[in-house]
Amino acid sequence: MRQAGRYMPEYRAVRDRMSFLDLCHDADAAAEVTVTAAERLGVDAAIIFADILLILEPMGIGLEFAKGDGPVIRQPVRSREHVDRLPEIEPAEALAFVFDAVRRAVAALRVPLIGFAGAPFTVASYVIEGGASRNYIHTKTLMYSDAGAWHALMGKLTRALIKYLNGQIAAGAHAVQLFDSWVGCLAPDDYRTFVLPHMRALFHGITPGIPVIHFGTGTSGLLELMREAGGSVIGIDWRIDLADAWQRVGHDVAVQGNLDPVTLFAPPAEIRAHATAILESVGARPGHVFNLGHGILPHTPVDHVRALIDTVHEVSARVRATR
Ligand code: CP3
Repeated sequence: MRQAGRYMPEYRAVRDRMSFLDLCHDADAAAEVTVTAAERLGVDAAIIFADILLILEPMGIGLEFAKGDGPVIRQPVRSREHVDRLPEIEPAEALAFVFDAVRRAVAALRVPLIGFAGAPFTVASYVIEGGASRNYIHTKTLMYSDAGAWHALMGKLTRALIKYLNGQIAAGAHAVQLFDSWVGCLAPDDYRTFVLPHMRALFHGITPGIPVIHFGTGTSGLLELMREAGGSVIGIDWRIDLADAWQRVGHDVAVQGNLDPVTLFAPPAEIRAHATAILESVGARPGHVFNLGHGILPHTPVDHVRALIDTVHEVSARVRATR
């Protein structure tokens, strides 16, 4: 998760020449950054370089990536009237540059490519808050005080996200991941009422035939509901034991995770011990996708990421041999 990023000198060199949004818009550069990161790391799959918030640009609400502040939405949406004014977006036109980047990355890569999108709740939280949030006060206030506006916004996002994901699949993505990064802030009953129906519609709308990874953080209260919503792989973070999470979602779906990305700041021997513990807890059971529990952080030593990947390859081969 977050293969290409500021922790990597090759990525910083590209970013010295162009802004983050310009890089996303340039299909050649985005494909190149994707391929370089995957090759440098030696991972088994690449993830397309893009962002979950790109889908908001054509909505005309003033998306910016301000230096040091992360993403900002200049005109946050907090009323029914504003929700109704948001255009239904057509990714085939508005986000064609992402589909181009997918095609180019697939042609150049020796490993499969993962496409992705934000899940409607997490994207809606940026639309309503205007940026990152700690308590999601505006988001939950809209949800509780104007359910009609909430569902209208979630419906609009879901329709756009289905087309966006299917465009990436048509362009050659071998799997797609839905990032519901901030959904763990919700009570289970609120997830059931305000999120689950939209997630169901989203999963039903995705072109069948490839794996769909359903990821969130802080989701230990929501795992069964996320499973019910859909996805062939459930992605979890390190705040829950992987074997326990798998038991709860059922062994008929795959799981992805779940090393704490902060572990990567520790000495390599420590990183190896933590990764080995996760892999050994899984044993020979098929259907585990090793990953971090969330994105790689700035300043992470690249050599430590490589040490992790080498460990995963070694230990997985050893475990497979005993199967
Ligand atoms: O993993 C990859 O290499 C694929 C690219 C990718 C990016 N963003 C590039 C990016 C992916 C999968 C994302 C997903 C994303 N974006 C999420 C969901 C995953 C998560 O982290 O929970 C979210 C919430 C966003 C929104 C977003 N974009 C934030 C909060 C930020 C600021 C982060 C920061 O550290 O400044 C971004 C910017 C962003 N997206 C960067 C990258 C490489 C850093 C931009 C830069 O170069 O300055």
